[in-house]
Amino acid sequence: MRATVVYESMYGCTRDVALAVAEGLATVGAVDVDEVGDAARELPVGTQLLVVGAPTHARGLSRPRTRADAGHRAPRAVLPDTERIGAREWIDLLRGQVTGIRAATFDTRVESRLAGSAASRAARLLDRRGFQLLDDPHGFVVEGLTGPVRTGELDRAREWGAALGRQVAGALASH
Ligand SMILES: Cc1cc2nc3c(=O)[nH]c(=O)nc-3n(C[C@H](O)[C@H](O)[C@H](O)COP(=O)(O)O)c2cc1C
Repeated sequence: MRATVVYESMYGCTRDVALAVAEGLATVGAVDVDEVGDAARELPVGTQLLVVGAPTHARGLSRPRTRADAGHRAPRAVLPDTERIGAREWIDLLRGQVTGIRAATFDTRVESRLAGSAASRAARLLDRRGFQLLDDPHGFVVEGLTGPVRTGELDRAREWGAALGRQVAGALASH
């Protein structure tokens, strides 16, 4: 099983969750992890699962305006690089044949009934591109705008990664 995890992160929370998901996946197979600004425009050869993670901004995926806003709201010590592209743009720019490649999405968000979900939006975009969505979009809770990730959420992310990996490996084995 070969997986690629691509994440967007302003303050590091989604990166922490992405690394935990990758740890879980690594118990089953090979994993590449990339920040969305560094990720290639084409998936690594042989990718069987793509996992995309992003912070929820304005109830969905970030846009240049919300990333700039994230920069203004950050304490100086964690000032994010708001010039980078987000998951929305990366999915849009993705080249190559992706039809049938399995995919899953997650986001980070605050605990609120009105939080919205970047992961649902990313799942819709990937579905439109021809990926085969494996699971419901997953949300992981952060404590306020800049985090940290809530206690227990990284364990949940690790377990989710391992479960996704087992699901893909199982499906490949039965072919
Ligand atoms: C401009 C902006 C808009 C946001 N809008 C939402 C929102 O609609 N719902 C939500 O749950 N969290 C919202 N947040 C909080 C983010 O979800 C939080 O900053 C993010 O999960 C932290 O992850 P990161 O460190 O990877 O950027 C917003 C944050 C920013 C900066």
